[in-house]
Amino acid sequence: MTDPAPAPAPVLAEPIPDFHTKPTLSGTRVLLRPVTADDLPALLPMFHDPEASRLTGNHAADDGPDEARLRKWYATRGEQDDRLDLAVVDRATGNVVGEVVLNLWDQGNESCNFRICLVPGTYGKGLGTEATRLIVGYGFEELGLHRVSLEVYAFNPRARRAYEKAGFVAEGVLRDALLWEGERVDATVMSILAPEWARHRGLPVVERLSGS
Ligand SMILES: CC(C)(COP(=O)(O)OP(=O)(O)OC[C@H]1O[C@@H](n2cnc3c(N)ncnc32)[C@H](O)[C@@H]1OP(=O)(O)O)[C@@H](O)C(=O)NCCC(=O)NCCS
Repeated sequence: MTDPAPAPAPVLAEPIPDFHTKPTLSGTRVLLRPVTADDLPALLPMFHDPEASRLTGNHAADDGPDEARLRKWYATRGEQDDRLDLAVVDRATGNVVGEVVLNLWDQGNESCNFRICLVPGTYGKGLGTEATRLIVGYGFEELGLHRVSLEVYAFNPRARRAYEKAGFVAEGVLRDALLWEGERVDATVMSILAPEWARHRGLPVVERLSGS
């Protein structure tokens, strides 16, 4: 008598990331916590500042921010189960200084897009790099993502540098991706993959800028 054929191995579904839980993440310089409508007054300068609009390629800001729409937007971030929107708090002052977001979740490919914007006047103090490390680390270590990617415009070397310091790697150029005030601008796609994150956890070896 021959042995019965082995039962087929069960197909295990990939665990679904828990986007519904909105965490508070603490670093040395910043704290990230769920964003709410009460944060709108602190965040509004991001939407009023023409330079921030340019750096993020936000054409929608051309007519000025629609505060009622934004209030509704931030009031509903806590209910979203396919994205994570966190306010960035400067621990030195307790002020909300921006937002970080994991969005465009692609379940089949276990990936997300990342974006960040700080309010004018808070740039260049290391807040953005740390906020990036905190939320991206959460994406890999708690949500189980495999890939986190972003796009950065050629005229934004500060953002690119912050992303590189957190471990993002440039992988290609989207030519003429943005049309801003008559000028066409390239965007660089950058990403981090889970095995890379496991190696450096947001602290890759990066070249120092000359003079820094
Ligand atoms: C992009 C952003 C999140 C970065 O956060 P940040 O707190 O300003 O950045 P950090 O201080 O953490 O790091 C900036 C790095 O860029 C470097 N830098 C600044 N200006 C630079 C320039 N012109 N060229 C190259 N590097 C530059 C800084 O020296 C620093 O690197 P270092 O620590 O090695 O010296 C923030 O500036 C921001 O919100 N800007 C407006 C909106 C925006 O650009 N969003 C991103 C869209 S892709």
